[in-house]
Amino acid sequence: MNDMSNFWSGWITFIVFLNIFGCLWILWWTRRKHDDDVAEGEELHHSFDGIVEYNNPLPQWWLMMFYATIVFAFIYLALYPGLGSYKGALGWTSVNQWEHEMKKADNRFDRIFEDYAKISIKDLAKDPEAIKVGQRLFGNNCSLCHGSDAHGAVGFPNLTDTDWLYGGNAKTIKTTITGGRTGNMPPMAAVVGDATAIKDVAAHVLSLSGRKGSGDAATGKTKFAPCAGCHGQDGKGNQAFGAPNLTDNVWLYGGDEATIITTINHGRSGAMPSFKDRLSEEKIHVLTAYVYSLSK
Ligand code: HEC
Ligand code: HEC
Repeated sequence: MNDMSNFWSGWITFIVFLNIFGCLWILWWTRRKHDDDVAEGEELHHSFDGIVEYNNPLPQWWLMMFYATIVFAFIYLALYPGLGSYKGALGWTSVNQWEHEMKKADNRFDRIFEDYAKISIKDLAKDPEAIKVGQRLFGNNCSLCHGSDAHGAVGFPNLTDTDWLYGGNAKTIKTTITGGRTGNMPPMAAVVGDATAIKDVAAHVLSLSGRKGSGDAATGKTKFAPCAGCHGQDGKGNQAFGAPNLTDNVWLYGGDEATIITTINHGRSGAMPSFKDRLSEEKIHVLTAYVYSLSK
């Protein structure tokens, strides 16, 4: 500890004792006999706007309470931190109290999660209590990106529908949450060609969900080959790469012509973080059941 914090520690200790002894002094001072003392129960020699005061000292028990608080202060200051940098005989800190309470809670909840871990995800997804627990975990860990109702947003998939980038079976959902996912759609402008060619490919993509673009869809279809490696010749996607189905009119980034052209030009790489270091396996199990239950 440096000189400066030694000084402040001493200063705080000094002020604390000054206050306690100050209280003692006030008690003593108000009790002591004054020269002009009047007998108990008599009127004192002063008045304020005609209001007079009787010499009625504090009852004894009341006075004792004041002394007791001073004794308490000394005991408290010996046991707990309060005198500058002195840590107190019990070594109490707010941090170790918090750790103690967290440990108690973990012990209690660990047992619940251990029990859930023995139940299959499909069965757990039908257990209303487990779903409530999963919903709370989702609120704390996932809703920031997927929304509190799990309906998603632009770039963040809706988890309540039956359209999956990677797959909606129990095992795949668990793999996604545990390890995270990174979508990998590279920028394709250089591969596809000039702006007209890109418009044509976009028109073909639009035609897959029954719509028309400003380009020529038939020409676009002939230029779809570089896309087919990931999205499939028919555009139905491939869950092994997380390449979305382009035919179902469910869009992660947007299905209007301008957004599709932006996707083709610049690529996309949505990132779902890994939770294996943040949540225990048992908690991920319950979360998986919750997500699984959403798309039924
Ligand atoms: C930082 C934002 C973020 C957080 C937090 C997050 N996710 Fe995700 N999640 C994403 C993104 C982005 C994707 C899509 C990844 C991609 O585009 O390839 C995704 C994908 C998924 C998928 C795959 C969906 C599919 O269609 O296959 C699941 C399941 C999922 N998240 C569940 C969760 C759960 C459960 C949590 C909480 C434990 C969570 N996510 C937390 C951003 C997030
Ligand atoms: C290397 C594999 C790969 C190739 C090649 C590829 N894509 Fe993709 N594409 C993906 C992946 C993966 C995603 C999802 C990105 C994400 O999750 O962030 C995606 C997303 C998209 C989307 C957004 C879908 C939505 O729901 O918003 C469109 C549109 C798209 N691709 C069209 C194309 C077209 C057109 C081509 C060819 C010019 C192409 N992609 C080539 C892998 C690929």
